[in-house]
Amino acid sequence: MSHVSSLIAQDIGQYLEAHRHKSLLRFITCGSVDDGKSTLIGRLLYESKMIFEDQLAALERDSKKVGTRGDEIDYALLLDGLQAEREQGITIDVAYRFFSTDRRKFIVADTPGHEQYTRNMVTGASTADLAIILIDARKGVLTQTRRHSYLVSLLGIRRVVLAINKMDLVDYAPEVFARIEADYRAFAARIGLTDIVCIPISAVHGDNIIEPRGNTPWYQGPMLMEHLETVPVDDDLQARPFRLPVQWVNRPNSDFRGFAGTIVSGVVKPGDSIKVLPSGRESRVLRIVTADGDLKEAVANQSVTLTLADEIDISRGDVLAAADDPVPVADQFEATVVWMSEAPMLRGRNYLLKIGTKTVTATIAPLKYKVNVNTLEHLAADRLELNDIGVCELELDQVIAFEPYAVNRDLGGFILIDRMTDHTVGAGQLNFALRRSQNIHWQSVDIHKQARAASKGQRPCVLWFTGLSGSGKSTIANLVEKKLHALGKHTYLLDGDNVRHGLNKDLGFTAEDRVENIRRIAEVAALMADAGLIVLTAFISPFRSERRMARALLPEGEFIEVFVDTPLAVAEARDTKGLYKKARRGELKNFTGIDSPYEAPSAPEIVVGDADGDPDKSALRIVAELRRRGILSAS
Ligand code: ADX
Repeated sequence: MSHVSSLIAQDIGQYLEAHRHKSLLRFITCGSVDDGKSTLIGRLLYESKMIFEDQLAALERDSKKVGTRGDEIDYALLLDGLQAEREQGITIDVAYRFFSTDRRKFIVADTPGHEQYTRNMVTGASTADLAIILIDARKGVLTQTRRHSYLVSLLGIRRVVLAINKMDLVDYAPEVFARIEADYRAFAARIGLTDIVCIPISAVHGDNIIEPRGNTPWYQGPMLMEHLETVPVDDDLQARPFRLPVQWVNRPNSDFRGFAGTIVSGVVKPGDSIKVLPSGRESRVLRIVTADGDLKEAVANQSVTLTLADEIDISRGDVLAAADDPVPVADQFEATVVWMSEAPMLRGRNYLLKIGTKTVTATIAPLKYKVNVNTLEHLAADRLELNDIGVCELELDQVIAFEPYAVNRDLGGFILIDRMTDHTVGAGQLNFALRRSQNIHWQSVDIHKQARAASKGQRPCVLWFTGLSGSGKSTIANLVEKKLHALGKHTYLLDGDNVRHGLNKDLGFTAEDRVENIRRIAEVAALMADAGLIVLTAFISPFRSERRMARALLPEGEFIEVFVDTPLAVAEARDTKGLYKKARRGELKNFTGIDSPYEAPSAPEIVVGDADGDPDKSALRIVAELRRRGILSAS
């Protein structure tokens, strides 16, 4: 297999030219080391001569030394550096390898196979055109095979090679191959995978990788490399309508305003009519600007800067689309999410959602079900744990331009980011927009918040008390309300224990129920503030994330977080309701401070607590602070 080097030797110019025009196939390999994945990738690299000579010498030497394959080369050793790092617990998300033959260039994403690595597989698969799913011929279709296949189909990879490996260990028996193929096709059909090529191989001996080795005369299909070299790629992105998510607005001076980004589908030419989404404004393309001069045409996968005929407001995250075939916009979706964080995804919690070049806030509302990837069963669930896959509804804080993932991976695939840690915690895809959002509009009203508040001689706000059970939230909030009432102010106190008798009596104290508890209270508090009231809320509200969500529902300055900073030991010693004792005895689960966390506020507007000596002093301080902020007088 020295075709590459001989072409280089004959005519380096011709080689480079051919190389430049070769198509690129991105693929992912799924399977575990035991299935022979490392050996297979090692062999593909070896056969395509992409291993440098010195590596090859080292490989021959190591193979002899390690001796797993007698005098033969152990291709798996090629990947062992990586393996060792994994064993040491160093996270390598995905290893991308590059190789090339006369006909095509390849990028293979090598991801670990075990369940705990689902997220790595998702990362590796999100750009792949094809997946090689490895099977050990002795074992057949396993749970892991089903899980990998489900993820592959979920991620929109339509082409699968089922590489039935270790055929040498089943005496190259055609009936073993036929049985596994039939099993697999039956499963694959259920998850919508139909473009499947099954190849009997031995990665160790090289059967049917590049050429038959005479052991499988009954097999008439393509060799693995031949298939990889000829399978169609790219699915004709250019034939689809034009879409360009704006990455940045290039405005070096007042005469030039260009919109830069990568075209995700279609073709664009100067003069084309385009529509900007979500605003819906239309214009025409004036120029296609690149570093190498203007273009007459640009196509999918090219990065360009467009200038338009009209001055319209466009910002990062907007999508430019063909005017006669634009993309839809919506703010509520059904989505499928793969969870990638140790901290679970909770119904009701909100996250940052990044889709294409746009970042918005998304609330999980509700989680519909999670999928048992092995059986494809739908299971009721309130949360997703690490590596779980679930279907949920998402509410965004603004309308976005999108396409379902099945139509366009770039405009339908997203990641979820934790607001606190900035970590990517999930990846997902938009399945469709919910119609309910399209049928519900804001009804305009004539009397507004300011008018309602002014007639009460005050400015509305939400005084959000947070702290441990028994910290004194309810007591202090009650005193503050009494003082405000005495001043003739219009108030309402929402108290944890009380609200849990009515509006929230369906909720308990699991993390997801607390998230929902606070979500509802935040909404109710915001409505009451809209009615012009000074609202006081007294809830443990143990999670920063939900307090931040509550804050985000109100205009700047109207959310006043009051941290009742009573240490656990003090609250527990008081134990007015006897609940700490119960919790310590194990009779009460998920008790805040005992076996459920309390995340103290990092920047509360007001901190009160024992330093004040008694609750009345705390209440006086809070009223003084409200006065200072101008809440107690009409604006
Ligand atoms: S929150 O965490 O969802 O904000 P909330 O303030 O509504 O809690 O309710 C807290 C009150 O419920 C406590 O003051 C206590 O009286 C009672 N309670 C009962 N079980 C628990 C529990 N497991 N953890 C905390 N509080 C509990």
